[in-house]
Parts: sequence; structure tokens; C-alpha cells
Amino acid sequence: MQCSPCLVVALSATLVALGMLILWLYGRTPTRYGKHAEEETGEKPPEQKPRRLHLPAKCAWFLQELPAFLVPVLLLALRSPPRFAPLGCRLLGGMFCGHYFHRTFIYSLLTRGRPFPLQTLLSGMLFCVYNGFLQGYYMVYCAEYPDDWCNDIRFTSGILLFLFGMGINIHSDFLLRQLRKPGELTYKIPQGGLFVYVSGANFLGEILEWFGYAIATWCLPAFAFALFTVCFVGPRAYHHHRYYLRKFTGYPRSRKALIPFIF
Ligand SMILES: NC(=O)c1ccc[n+]([C@@H]2O[C@H](COP(=O)([O-])OP(=O)(O)OC[C@H]3O[C@@H](n4cnc5c(N)ncnc54)[C@H](OP(=O)(O)O)[C@@H]3O)[C@@H](O)[C@H]2O)c1
Repeated sequence: MQCSPCLVVALSATLVALGMLILWLYGRTPTRYGKHAEEETGEKPPEQKPRRLHLPAKCAWFLQELPAFLVPVLLLALRSPPRFAPLGCRLLGGMFCGHYFHRTFIYSLLTRGRPFPLQTLLSGMLFCVYNGFLQGYYMVYCAEYPDDWCNDIRFTSGILLFLFGMGINIHSDFLLRQLRKPGELTYKIPQGGLFVYVSGANFLGEILEWFGYAIATWCLPAFAFALFTVCFVGPRAYHHHRYYLRKFTGYPRSRKALIPFIF
């Protein structure tokens, strides 16, 4: 395989367009999994709606996220001649695959989420193949960095932002898990960490993480993915916030949806 700049631009532009479409679609009605899975769309009474197939959350998250880890790892491993040393490959391995290693093998094992709709799982899987290929292909076949990139402010600040975001994301998902005993499926008011300021603390962490990756790698595919993440998890944070305000009369009024003190 050779680097095709046209392919990189086309796939990145498609990712941004997909993000915009998702923002438009899910800005008003939430993505139908987790706490929004059973919400009414208003067209049909619930007893007339076809029942959707579901998978246990642990299994669904594992299957959904696995391609985002596996595809870049395979691209790295199968490249001939092998190419692990360049900085682009090390960034891909350490940051992108590190995140998806955690999401695939650790988050999925620990989750106490409710069963996950098969349809959402399949589209999530497809997305992970697409994005795993785009990020992997760019880093393995196209990325080139100057020798002193490790001393560049974009590299250091990007890595720090990525680690900061990852810390917030993992800690916030941990706090959400602690709200339930094993087997329990009820929703409670999230407490502690950045949940003091926002309803979507885990989503805020995820966004910071991918902007950190984009800054450290300074490339089009990574910025496209960071933008996509805002378009996907931003509306989800907003709908979670509205859900909490509806459900809990004592929900903290000063708490915002996604950006502390602002939104
Ligand atoms: N990069 C991207 O584009 C992208 C896209 C989607 C997700 N993600 C990441 O994937 C992770 C999971 O996403 P998600 O959409 O499932 O997040 P979520 O809706 O916040 O749910 C996370 C977990 O916490 C549980 N939970 C949520 N609110 C709760 C509450 N009030 N009380 C008790 N338990 C609660 C959920 O259970 P239920 O399942 O039963 O609701 C689920 O197991 C997040 O870290 C997110 O950032 C990334």
C-alpha cells in the first residue's frame, strides 16, 4: 500500500460530513441507547412498536470497539517492510490504540450498562472499522514528522491534553459505575469529579482526549475525528442533562450539560 493524500482527504471529509449529519439528526432526538433507549418518538404507542434486539452491554461494547483497536494494529503489523519506529507509528500505537485497548478490553469488562441495541452496535462497529482504518492508514503510510517534533509545543501540549482528557473520561465512567450495584439498572444523580460542574463529564473528557490527539499529531484525520466526537457526544451530553432535569427535582441547577459554567 502507498500513501494516497486524496484518499486521506476524502475519508476525513466524509468523517466530518458524517459528524455534521449526526449533529443534525441527534441534536433534537437522542441516540437510542442507554437512558434514551426507551424514550418515545411520538409516532406509535409502545405496544405497537417492534421490539429491538439487544445484546448484554459487556459483549456489545467489546464487539463494537474491537475494530478500532484491531484495524490499526493490523495495519501496523502487516506493513511491509515493518515500520514501528517512526514517530507517527508510535503515536498511533501509544495514544489511539492505547485508548481503544482500554475501551475494548477494560471498559467493556467493567460496564454495568443495560443491554445494548443490536442495530446501534452494528453501526458503531462499522464506524470503528472506518475510523480505525483512516487513523491507522494515515499514521502508518502517510505521516512524517521533523526530527525535533517531540520538542514542538503542539506535541507536548497535545500529549498533556490527551492524558488529561483520558483521566477525566476514565474517572467519570468509574463514578457512573459506582452509582449502581452489579445487576442494578436504575439511574441516579452522578456525584463528584467533573460531574459537580457538568452532566456529561465523561463526554467532556472524551472530547479533550481527541483534541489532544489531534494537536499532538497535527493531521487532518485526527482533527476530523475530534470534530466527529464533539458532534456525537455533545448532543448526548445535552440530552442526558435534560433527562436529569426532568427526572430529578433536586438536580443541581448550577450544573451545565458539557462545558463548565457555559453550556
Ligand atoms: N468518541 C466517540 O465518538 C464516542 C461515542 C460514544 C461513546 N463514547 C464514549 O464511550 C463511553 C460510554 O458512552 P455512553 O454514551 O454509553 O455514556 P453514558 O450514556 O454516560 O453511559 C456510560 C455508562 O454509565 C451508565 N450510566 C449513565 N448515567 C448513569 C446514571 N445517572 N446512573 C447510573 N448509571 C449511569 C450507563 O448505563 P446505561 O447504559 O444503562 O445507560 C453506562 O453503563 C463514554 O466514555 C463515551 O465518552 C465515545
